[in-house]
Amino acid sequence: MIVAGNWKMNKNLQEGIELAKEVNDFFKENPAEAEVIIAPPYIHLADVARSLSIVKLSSQNSASETSGAYTGEISASMIKSTGAEYVILGHSERRSYFGEDDDLLFRKIKLVLEQEMKPIFCCGEVLKERESDMHFEVVKNQVETALFGLSPEEFSEIVIAYEPVWAIGTGVTATPAQAQEMHAFIRDLIRSKFGETAADDLSILYGGSCKPSNAREIFENPDVDGGLIGGAALHAEDFIKIVQSF
Ligand code: 13P
Repeated sequence: MIVAGNWKMNKNLQEGIELAKEVNDFFKENPAEAEVIIAPPYIHLADVARSLSIVKLSSQNSASETSGAYTGEISASMIKSTGAEYVILGHSERRSYFGEDDDLLFRKIKLVLEQEMKPIFCCGEVLKERESDMHFEVVKNQVETALFGLSPEEFSEIVIAYEPVWAIGTGVTATPAQAQEMHAFIRDLIRSKFGETAADDLSILYGGSCKPSNAREIFENPDVDGGLIGGAALHAEDFIKIVQSF
Protein backbone atom coordinates (compact mmCIF):
# COMPACT_ATOMS: atom_id res chain seq x y z
CA MET A 1 0.00 0.00 0.00
CA ILE A 2 1.23 3.44 -0.95
CA VAL A 3 -0.25 6.86 -0.28
CA ALA A 4 1.43 9.72 -2.13
CA GLY A 5 0.64 13.41 -1.74
CA ASN A 6 1.05 15.48 -4.90
CA TRP A 7 1.32 19.09 -3.77
CA LYS A 8 1.23 20.42 -7.36
CA MET A 9 2.16 24.16 -7.50
CA ASN A 10 1.30 24.95 -3.89
CA LYS A 11 3.17 26.04 -0.73
CA ASN A 12 6.20 28.29 -0.53
CA LEU A 13 9.43 26.83 0.83
CA GLN A 14 8.76 27.58 4.50
CA GLU A 15 5.19 26.28 4.30
CA GLY A 16 6.41 23.20 2.49
CA ILE A 17 9.03 22.38 5.10
CA GLU A 18 6.45 22.86 7.84
CA LEU A 19 3.93 20.54 6.19
CA ALA A 20 6.58 17.90 5.46
CA LYS A 21 7.75 17.98 9.08
CA GLU A 22 4.24 17.69 10.42
CA VAL A 23 3.49 14.64 8.29
CA ASN A 24 6.86 12.99 8.88
CA ASP A 25 6.81 13.55 12.63
CA PHE A 26 3.32 12.11 12.91
CA PHE A 27 4.24 8.89 11.13
CA LYS A 28 7.48 8.59 13.05
CA GLU A 29 5.41 8.46 16.23
CA ASN A 30 2.53 6.47 14.69
CA PRO A 31 3.93 4.13 12.03
CA ALA A 32 1.59 3.75 9.06
CA GLU A 33 0.62 0.52 7.34
CA ALA A 34 1.18 2.23 4.02
CA GLU A 35 4.32 3.65 2.50
CA VAL A 36 3.88 7.42 2.65
CA ILE A 37 5.31 9.67 -0.06
CA ILE A 38 5.16 13.42 -0.57
CA ALA A 39 5.80 15.20 -3.87
CA PRO A 40 6.57 18.89 -3.28
CA PRO A 41 7.60 21.33 -6.03
CA TYR A 42 11.13 20.86 -7.40
CA ILE A 43 12.69 23.78 -5.55
CA HIS A 44 11.61 22.40 -2.17
CA LEU A 45 12.99 18.91 -2.66
CA ALA A 46 16.47 19.29 -1.15
CA ASP A 47 15.25 21.22 1.89
CA VAL A 48 12.23 19.01 2.48
CA ALA A 49 14.49 15.94 2.24
CA ARG A 50 16.33 17.12 5.35
CA SER A 51 13.07 17.06 7.32
CA LEU A 52 12.15 13.51 6.35
CA SER A 53 13.09 10.29 8.08
CA ILE A 54 10.17 7.96 7.45
CA VAL A 55 8.17 9.67 4.71
CA LYS A 56 9.61 9.22 1.21
CA LEU A 57 10.23 11.97 -1.31
CA SER A 58 9.05 12.30 -4.91
CA SER A 59 9.26 14.97 -7.59
CA GLN A 60 6.25 15.84 -9.75
CA ASN A 61 8.05 15.60 -13.09
CA SER A 62 11.50 15.31 -14.63
CA ALA A 63 13.16 16.32 -17.90
CA SER A 64 13.23 14.20 -21.05
CA GLU A 65 16.94 14.89 -21.56
CA THR A 66 19.92 14.06 -19.35
CA SER A 67 21.69 17.45 -19.23
CA GLY A 68 22.65 20.45 -21.31
CA ALA A 69 21.05 23.55 -22.79
CA TYR A 70 17.45 23.06 -21.65
CA THR A 71 16.73 26.27 -19.79
CA GLY A 72 14.38 25.79 -16.88
CA GLU A 73 14.42 21.99 -16.95
CA ILE A 74 15.36 19.64 -14.10
CA SER A 75 17.01 16.32 -14.89
CA ALA A 76 16.47 12.94 -13.27
CA SER A 77 20.02 12.93 -11.87
CA MET A 78 19.42 16.34 -10.23
CA ILE A 79 16.25 14.99 -8.63
CA LYS A 80 18.09 11.91 -7.45
CA SER A 81 20.78 14.08 -5.83
CA THR A 82 18.17 15.71 -3.55
CA GLY A 83 17.31 12.37 -1.97
CA ALA A 84 14.09 11.74 -3.89
CA GLU A 85 13.20 8.11 -4.57
CA TYR A 86 10.11 8.58 -6.76
CA VAL A 87 9.14 10.69 -9.76
CA ILE A 88 5.54 11.31 -10.80
CA LEU A 89 5.32 11.18 -14.60
CA GLY A 90 2.46 11.72 -17.02
CA HIS A 91 0.15 13.54 -14.66
CA SER A 92 -2.93 14.70 -16.60
CA GLU A 93 -1.97 18.32 -15.93
CA ARG A 94 1.40 17.71 -17.62
CA ARG A 95 -0.39 15.99 -20.48
CA SER A 96 -3.01 18.68 -21.04
CA TYR A 97 -1.15 21.94 -20.21
CA PHE A 98 2.34 20.98 -21.36
CA GLY A 99 1.53 18.63 -24.22
CA GLU A 100 3.25 15.54 -22.83
CA ASP A 101 2.40 12.35 -24.68
CA ASP A 102 3.20 8.73 -23.97
CA ASP A 103 6.19 8.53 -26.33
CA LEU A 104 7.81 11.37 -24.42
CA LEU A 105 6.83 9.73 -21.14
CA PHE A 106 8.53 6.50 -22.18
CA ARG A 107 11.79 8.48 -22.56
CA LYS A 108 11.34 10.17 -19.20
CA ILE A 109 10.60 6.84 -17.51
CA LYS A 110 13.82 5.34 -18.89
CA LEU A 111 15.88 8.27 -17.57
CA VAL A 112 14.27 8.04 -14.13
CA LEU A 113 14.95 4.28 -14.02
CA GLU A 114 18.58 4.87 -15.01
CA GLN A 115 18.87 6.98 -11.87
CA GLU A 116 17.43 4.11 -9.82
CA MET A 117 14.30 6.01 -8.86
CA LYS A 118 10.75 4.72 -9.19
CA PRO A 119 8.39 6.33 -11.69
CA ILE A 120 4.78 6.82 -10.60
CA PHE A 121 3.16 6.67 -14.02
CA CYS A 122 -0.23 8.42 -14.26
CA CYS A 123 -2.93 7.42 -16.71
CA GLY A 124 -6.62 8.18 -17.05
CA GLU A 125 -9.35 9.31 -19.40
CA VAL A 126 -11.11 12.67 -19.75
CA LEU A 127 -14.87 12.95 -19.24
CA LYS A 128 -15.71 12.91 -22.93
CA GLU A 129 -13.82 9.65 -23.36
CA ARG A 130 -15.66 8.03 -20.47
CA GLU A 131 -19.02 9.26 -21.74
CA SER A 132 -18.31 7.77 -25.14
CA ASP A 133 -17.17 4.51 -23.55
CA MET A 134 -13.58 4.94 -24.69
CA HIS A 135 -11.99 4.87 -21.24
CA PHE A 136 -10.56 1.37 -21.39
CA GLU A 137 -9.10 1.96 -24.82
CA VAL A 138 -7.55 5.30 -23.78
CA VAL A 139 -5.90 3.85 -20.68
CA LYS A 140 -4.75 0.78 -22.63
CA ASN A 141 -3.02 3.01 -25.19
CA GLN A 142 -1.35 5.09 -22.49
CA VAL A 143 -0.06 2.05 -20.62
CA GLU A 144 1.07 0.22 -23.77
CA THR A 145 2.91 3.18 -25.28
CA ALA A 146 4.63 4.37 -22.12
CA LEU A 147 5.38 1.04 -20.41
CA PHE A 148 5.37 -1.93 -22.79
CA GLY A 149 8.83 -1.06 -24.15
CA LEU A 150 10.37 -1.64 -20.72
CA SER A 151 12.19 -4.82 -19.76
CA PRO A 152 10.59 -6.94 -17.01
CA GLU A 153 13.33 -5.74 -14.61
CA GLU A 154 12.58 -2.13 -15.45
CA PHE A 155 8.85 -2.69 -15.15
CA SER A 156 9.24 -4.08 -11.63
CA GLU A 157 10.18 -0.54 -10.47
CA ILE A 158 6.99 1.06 -11.83
CA VAL A 159 4.03 2.29 -9.81
CA ILE A 160 0.87 3.10 -11.79
CA ALA A 161 -1.65 5.75 -10.74
CA TYR A 162 -5.09 5.70 -12.34
CA GLU A 163 -6.44 9.23 -12.23
CA PRO A 164 -9.66 9.77 -14.18
CA VAL A 165 -9.26 13.38 -15.30
CA TRP A 166 -12.91 14.19 -14.59
CA ALA A 167 -12.31 13.34 -10.92
CA ILE A 168 -9.20 15.49 -10.41
CA GLY A 169 -9.85 18.57 -8.32
CA THR A 170 -13.56 18.43 -9.10
CA GLY A 171 -14.92 16.91 -5.90
CA VAL A 172 -16.41 14.12 -8.04
CA THR A 173 -14.73 10.84 -7.14
CA ALA A 174 -14.90 7.70 -9.22
CA THR A 175 -17.21 5.26 -7.48
CA PRO A 176 -15.42 2.38 -5.76
CA ALA A 177 -16.80 0.12 -8.52
CA GLN A 178 -15.46 2.36 -11.30
CA ALA A 179 -12.03 2.47 -9.65
CA GLN A 180 -11.95 -1.29 -9.06
CA GLU A 181 -13.05 -2.03 -12.63
CA MET A 182 -10.30 0.10 -14.20
CA HIS A 183 -7.62 -1.10 -11.77
CA ALA A 184 -8.46 -4.73 -12.55
CA PHE A 185 -8.34 -3.90 -16.26
CA ILE A 186 -4.86 -2.33 -15.88
CA ARG A 187 -3.62 -5.31 -13.87
CA ASP A 188 -4.89 -7.71 -16.55
CA LEU A 189 -3.13 -5.68 -19.20
CA ILE A 190 0.13 -5.91 -17.24
CA ARG A 191 -0.39 -9.63 -16.68
CA SER A 192 -0.76 -10.20 -20.42
CA LYS A 193 2.55 -8.43 -21.11
CA PHE A 194 4.77 -8.97 -18.07
CA GLY A 195 3.25 -12.06 -16.43
CA GLU A 196 1.51 -13.10 -13.26
CA THR A 197 4.16 -12.07 -10.73
CA ALA A 198 4.64 -8.61 -12.23
CA ALA A 199 0.88 -8.07 -12.16
CA ASP A 200 0.56 -9.27 -8.57
CA ASP A 201 3.50 -7.17 -7.36
CA LEU A 202 2.36 -4.00 -9.13
CA SER A 203 0.96 -1.15 -7.01
CA ILE A 204 -1.93 0.66 -8.71
CA LEU A 205 -2.92 3.87 -6.95
CA TYR A 206 -6.19 5.71 -7.39
CA GLY A 207 -6.22 9.52 -7.68
CA GLY A 208 -9.04 12.03 -8.04
CA SER A 209 -10.84 13.88 -5.23
CA CYS A 210 -9.71 11.41 -2.58
CA LYS A 211 -10.69 12.70 0.87
CA PRO A 212 -10.77 11.34 4.41
CA SER A 213 -14.51 10.72 3.91
CA ASN A 214 -14.20 8.51 0.82
CA ALA A 215 -10.69 7.03 1.03
CA ARG A 216 -11.66 3.89 2.88
CA GLU A 217 -14.35 2.74 0.44
CA ILE A 218 -11.95 3.24 -2.49
CA PHE A 219 -8.90 1.65 -0.85
CA GLU A 220 -10.96 -1.37 0.21
CA ASN A 221 -11.12 -2.70 -3.35
CA PRO A 222 -8.87 -5.64 -4.13
CA ASP A 223 -7.08 -3.96 -7.05
CA VAL A 224 -6.63 -0.56 -5.40
CA ASP A 225 -3.21 -0.49 -3.75
CA GLY A 226 -3.26 3.06 -2.47
CA GLY A 227 -3.87 6.64 -3.50
CA LEU A 228 -2.36 9.66 -5.19
CA ILE A 229 -3.77 12.62 -3.31
CA GLY A 230 -3.91 16.22 -4.53
CA GLY A 231 -5.84 18.88 -2.62
CA ALA A 232 -6.23 16.87 0.59
CA ALA A 233 -2.44 16.37 0.76
CA LEU A 234 -2.01 20.09 1.44
CA HIS A 235 -3.51 19.70 4.91
CA ALA A 236 -1.52 17.48 7.25
CA GLU A 237 -4.60 16.37 9.16
CA ASP A 238 -6.54 15.29 6.05
CA PHE A 239 -3.55 13.57 4.49
CA ILE A 240 -2.82 11.68 7.70
CA LYS A 241 -6.46 10.58 7.94
CA ILE A 242 -6.35 9.28 4.37
CA VAL A 243 -3.18 7.29 5.11
CA GLN A 244 -4.89 5.88 8.19
CA SER A 245 -7.89 4.69 6.15
CA PHE A 246 -6.10 1.42 5.48
P1 13P B 1 -7.21 15.94 -6.22
O1 13P B 1 -7.02 14.98 -5.08
O2 13P B 1 -7.06 17.38 -5.81
O3 13P B 1 -8.45 15.67 -7.00
O4 13P B 1 -5.98 15.70 -7.22
C1 13P B 1 -5.65 14.40 -7.58
C2 13P B 1 -4.37 14.42 -8.30
O5 13P B 1 -4.29 14.97 -9.39
C3 13P B 1 -3.20 13.81 -7.67
O6 13P B 1 -2.13 13.72 -8.55
